[in-house]
Amino acid sequence: MIRVPDLIERKRNGEELADEEIAELVLGFTRGEVPDYQLSAWCMAVYFRGLNGRETHALTDAMVRSGDSIDLGAVLGRRVVDKHSTGGVGDKTSLAVGPIVAACGVPVGKMSGRGLAHSGGTLDKLESIPGFRVELSIDEFISQVRDVGLAIVGQTGDLVPADKKLYALRDVTATVDINSLIASSIMSKKIATGANAIVLDVKVGDGAHGKRTLDDGRILGEQMIDLGRRAGREVVCLLTDMDQPLGAAVGNALEVREAVETISAEGPPDFAELVLDASARLLSLSDLGVDLDEGRRMAENATTDGSAREMYERWIRAQGGDPSLDVLPRAPVIREVTAPRAGIVTRLAALPIGIAALELGGGRRTKDDEIDHAVGIVCSAKRGQTVEEGQVLADIHARDDDSAARAAEQVLAAYSITDEPPRTQHGIVLEVIA
Ligand code: URA
Repeated sequence: MIRVPDLIERKRNGEELADEEIAELVLGFTRGEVPDYQLSAWCMAVYFRGLNGRETHALTDAMVRSGDSIDLGAVLGRRVVDKHSTGGVGDKTSLAVGPIVAACGVPVGKMSGRGLAHSGGTLDKLESIPGFRVELSIDEFISQVRDVGLAIVGQTGDLVPADKKLYALRDVTATVDINSLIASSIMSKKIATGANAIVLDVKVGDGAHGKRTLDDGRILGEQMIDLGRRAGREVVCLLTDMDQPLGAAVGNALEVREAVETISAEGPPDFAELVLDASARLLSLSDLGVDLDEGRRMAENATTDGSAREMYERWIRAQGGDPSLDVLPRAPVIREVTAPRAGIVTRLAALPIGIAALELGGGRRTKDDEIDHAVGIVCSAKRGQTVEEGQVLADIHARDDDSAARAAEQVLAAYSITDEPPRTQHGIVLEVIA
């Protein structure tokens, strides 16, 4: 039997832990035998001392073994694809990529997460849809992927329960931005749900966890590709820009609306570009036998011919939700943030926008906090855009005037408007590692 204080102390002192020690710690935590405070202390020790490749693999493996696994590809007799992001501000990519890829005839069975620190989570976004159920049994999950072509669920008591508990703990203990914990959290979900090919979206920039640089992103990407390879999965990793929020909308219901607009070919350009790129890559990794260019054409067609929107509606109904945009919750107060001068937007910092959305009530400060699905920010002016004095930069959607006023100050401070264009100009996808 392990002594948990010893494991915390040894990791705190920078020692390596054995595979069995990591497994016992994680499985004991999942069974409720290791309390939250000890796991929190261990995560903080990992934050400062790190886990090496072997330890990260042992952690991932233990998380997969904490519950059941599904070989979705074998059950469906198809090659199943999946995507996952490391988390960013305004990142609603899964909500759009899932319906597009499924509409093109490739099954998608995805396990997502909730918000983490300043970044929103796909499950919280989906729960802004009245009636939507993120907890499906394994049988329901499989049947839905088979019958509808798409299911997105949360970690459950059966599937990766260790990640469900650890994720909620990391969210509120400042232990999110650690490569080994991010890599094991993401890859355990992907491995347990049986995707054969996975596209990972590693965020880079001030709104990425730990303000990840391109070099840091490469390291995290390689780590996840390695975990995928050990499990026999094909993994492609996109390094994408998170130096400004993705798209315009930040906040749960606001992001659902923007995702639906995007699958109807009416989304903001940077978000639409990422969605089409990720969708094309998933299609090219599927069993359709298409290359990237053909995948891109198929993805674009799905957004213009209505099939992605139709798939979205079937999927949301299948999980008990109402797909109409009219039923999404709306905040009672909307306050404009206007440009104090004319010029070019040279900076729209993602992190302060993420924090402002969280403080409006869109995220959690403690594990048991309720989320306000209606609140958030819509940043209509993005980096590189020319604005007139008094032009609306962003709209704050708030529960009351006081919180709207506080958020308006934070949002204005996130913008820089100058006479010169931004020094660096680049697209949303910065690099691809395969
Ligand atoms: N997404 C996850 O599933 N886990 C993380 O740790 C970060 C992003």
